[in-house]
Amino acid sequence: MKRFLLFIVFAAFVSPALVSAGESGAEILKARCASCHDLKGPAPATIRQLWKRDAPDLFYAGNKFRREWLVAWLQKPVRIRPAGVNYLRTINSTPTHQEKTKKGRKYDVLWGAVLKPLKHVTLSKQDAGAVADALMDLKPHTALVAGVTLDTSKKVSLDAGEVIFDKVYGCTSCHQIEPGYGGYTGAELYTAGKRLQPAFMLSYIKRPKNWDPKIWMPNLHVSPDDLQKITNYLILLSKEDFSESN
Ligand code: HEC
Ligand code: HEC
Repeated sequence: MKRFLLFIVFAAFVSPALVSAGESGAEILKARCASCHDLKGPAPATIRQLWKRDAPDLFYAGNKFRREWLVAWLQKPVRIRPAGVNYLRTINSTPTHQEKTKKGRKYDVLWGAVLKPLKHVTLSKQDAGAVADALMDLKPHTALVAGVTLDTSKKVSLDAGEVIFDKVYGCTSCHQIEPGYGGYTGAELYTAGKRLQPAFMLSYIKRPKNWDPKIWMPNLHVSPDDLQKITNYLILLSKEDFSESN
C-alpha cells in the first residue's frame, strides 16, 4: 500500500514534469554543445585564439544556415571541412607534399590519407528541430546581411560558374567543388547552396573578415557581378547528386 501511495505521489508530481519537460532547444545547446562551439561570440580576435578553435562558431547561426539543412545534419552529421576545423594540424603544404591533379594543378596533401569520419553528437528528429529553432534565433550579424539579396537574373551554367570560381578567382585552391576535387583549407562548397543562406554567401565572399576577423580566407575583391554569379553557381552546384562519388 505504501508503495502504491508513493507511486501515486510520484505520478502526480514528478512524471508530468518529466513528460512535459522535453529539453528546450536552448537548453540542449547550453548543456550539450557549448563545450565545443562558441554560442555567444565574438569571433576570435587574434590568430592565437583562432588556432585554439576546435569547432565552428555557431553564435551567428541564424544569419548563416538554412534551417532545413540544420535539422537534417544534426540527425546525421558528416564532415564539411575535409581537413577539419583546424587545418594547420592536418595539412602539410610543404612543396614535397603537394600532389598534382590530372589537370596539372597542385593541392595540399593531408598528413594522413583522409581524416577519420567525424564523431559528432547526433540528435533525435524532435531535438534536432528544437535545436535548429534555437540556432536560428542567434542573429547578431543581421546588419551584415541587411539589403543583401540574390539576383537570380545572374544565373550561370555549371561550366561558366566553374570558370569564374576556379580560373578567375582561384577559389578551388581552398574549396572542393566535388568530393576530392579542390583544396582542403576551407569548407566543401558543393553543399554550400543547401547549407547556407544566399545573403550569407554573398556577404561572406565579399568580405570574409566582417564575419571572422582572423580567418585565412582572403578578400578576393570579387566584382559585384561575379559575386552574384558565383553564389548562383554554388546554389546550382548543390543540386547535383554527388552520392556516387562519395
Ligand atoms: C566535442 C565537440 C563538439 C560538440 C560537443 C558539438 N560539436 Fe558540433 N561540431 C564539432 C566539430 C569539430 C564540427 C566541425 C565538423 C567539420 O566540418 O569537420 C562541428 C560542426 C557542427 C555544425 C556545422 C557547422 C558549420 O559551420 O559547418 C553544427 C550545426 C553543429 N556542429 C552543431 C552542434 C550542436 C547543435 C551540438 C550540440 C547538440 C554540437 N554541435 C556539439 C564539434 C562539436
Ligand atoms: C586561402 C584559402 C581560401 C580561398 C582562396 C578562398 N576561401 Fe573561402 N573560405 C576559406 C576558409 C578558411 C573559410 C572558413 C571555413 C570555416 O569556417 O571553417 C572559407 C569560407 C567560405 C565560405 C563559407 C563556407 C561555410 O560553410 O561557412 C564561402 C561561401 C566561401 N569561403 C567561398 C569562397 C569563394 C567564392 C572563394 C573565391 C572567390 C573563396 N572562398 C576563396 C578559405 C579560402
